[in-house]
Amino acid sequence: MADFWPVESEKVSLAKLFESDPSRLGAFTLGAAGIYFDWSKTHLTEDLVRQFSALADRQGLRAARDALFGGRVVNTSEGRAAEHTAERGEGHPDSVARARTFHNRMRALLDAVEAGALGDIRHVLHIGIGGSALGPDLLIDALGRDADRYDVAVVSNVDGAALEEATRDFDPHATLLLIASKTFTTTETMLNAASALSWMAEAGVEDPYGRVVALTASPEKAMEWGVDETRILPFSESVGGRYSLWSSIGFPIALALGWDAFESLLEGAAEMDRHFRLAEPALNAPLLAAFADLYYTQLRGCETRAVFAYDERLRLLPSYLQQLEMESNGKRVTPAGEPLAWPTAPITWGGVGTDAQHAVFQLLHQGTRLVPLEFVAVAEAGDNQDEAHHRALLTNCFAQGAALMTGKDSDDPQRAYPGDRPSSTILLERLDPATLGALIAFYEHRTFANAVLLGINPFDQFGVELGKQIARSIDEQGTDDFDPSTRALMARAFD
Ligand code: F6P
Repeated sequence: MADFWPVESEKVSLAKLFESDPSRLGAFTLGAAGIYFDWSKTHLTEDLVRQFSALADRQGLRAARDALFGGRVVNTSEGRAAEHTAERGEGHPDSVARARTFHNRMRALLDAVEAGALGDIRHVLHIGIGGSALGPDLLIDALGRDADRYDVAVVSNVDGAALEEATRDFDPHATLLLIASKTFTTTETMLNAASALSWMAEAGVEDPYGRVVALTASPEKAMEWGVDETRILPFSESVGGRYSLWSSIGFPIALALGWDAFESLLEGAAEMDRHFRLAEPALNAPLLAAFADLYYTQLRGCETRAVFAYDERLRLLPSYLQQLEMESNGKRVTPAGEPLAWPTAPITWGGVGTDAQHAVFQLLHQGTRLVPLEFVAVAEAGDNQDEAHHRALLTNCFAQGAALMTGKDSDDPQRAYPGDRPSSTILLERLDPATLGALIAFYEHRTFANAVLLGINPFDQFGVELGKQIARSIDEQGTDDFDPSTRALMARAFD
């Protein structure tokens, strides 16, 4: 790999880019899988796209993509494939068949729950953390608001307050407990699961274990924990945690929305898979997005990127993306262990519009930092209020992009807006399972494309281990071997 970032460009303002190229809008917008993408208000140019495409060729993007979809080992540090696309029917035929078998088990258990085989179930308590919680939480919050099936609560935090809040309005006699953990060893999840089981037992539920379903790639661990084999929904080890909502980790999604919705979610994602695999670079949504990401981090020194969902139903999207992007691409060495000469993933942050306009947008318009923004909106309204609400929501969203780009002169520097601040806009036709599936798959592939161009492995996450080890060691051996600050904090809290 080069020891410099091998793409260059002259700095031209967004206004000039539009002025000098009447076809700019057409060149930097495209539609795929029910989603309209607009990068025309970013500094991408056709020349940059050519350079990034050439870089993608040199970095072996085609081969890497074939390896991803072909079920070959792409997670080299752990010697594993990354087969989330096989869950959607796009992958190695054996892996697709295996995923289908696992989905059939999910479907059969869903039917059994619906038929009352596990008792009168009205509530579902889903316990998991990170990738075992964020996807279900996002999907159910986005699409399950009007669903009239089961109340699903997702509990991730080990803080007992989270479990208390989730169970406050649940009847323990009518609750199904889902324990979602790829490894079935994650401390927070196992502690929450044990406490949830006690909550049921203490309320007099006759056979609390009979109400437990495990969603895991480690079925033998679930059995050791006491889950009956018939209520274990396995998934493949080659599906990464933050890519796992398509697997049995998505069981609460199927419970909340129904099986057909879960299938549509997979189909929408598969449509984006095919788009990513087949579209040429200049018309390839995940690739163009990655090119824009890399332009800002590598050529403009941006350290963060912000995502604003202009739709209440997508309010959890920024936190979902934080794990996907930062856990995948927050790396500092190549797969061969060599330090990189350039920055990797920016910090992903964001919020919901229009709220964020009244809180953090000041910095985005007039602060000293350049933050590329991404707006995610939905053309069709999701509410039954006067249509003025949705109109105001979308008008504000588009106005922000225009204001950031155009800026405004003033004799008074306090009141001047520098402009030339980039944003991309992602407009979904409607928010349904298929379109949301496609949107999430778009983000997965964009993250993968970024990793290939950066020269890193997006599928491991060793960075999260040290803190866990230290917490374990403090728990088991106390703080004697630790620094004075850590010792004092532990003493203040527990002595
Ligand atoms: O600590 C990070 C992590 O391993 C994530 O990658 C993962 O999504 C999360 O913990 C939960 O892991 P598990 O599904 O094994 O409980």
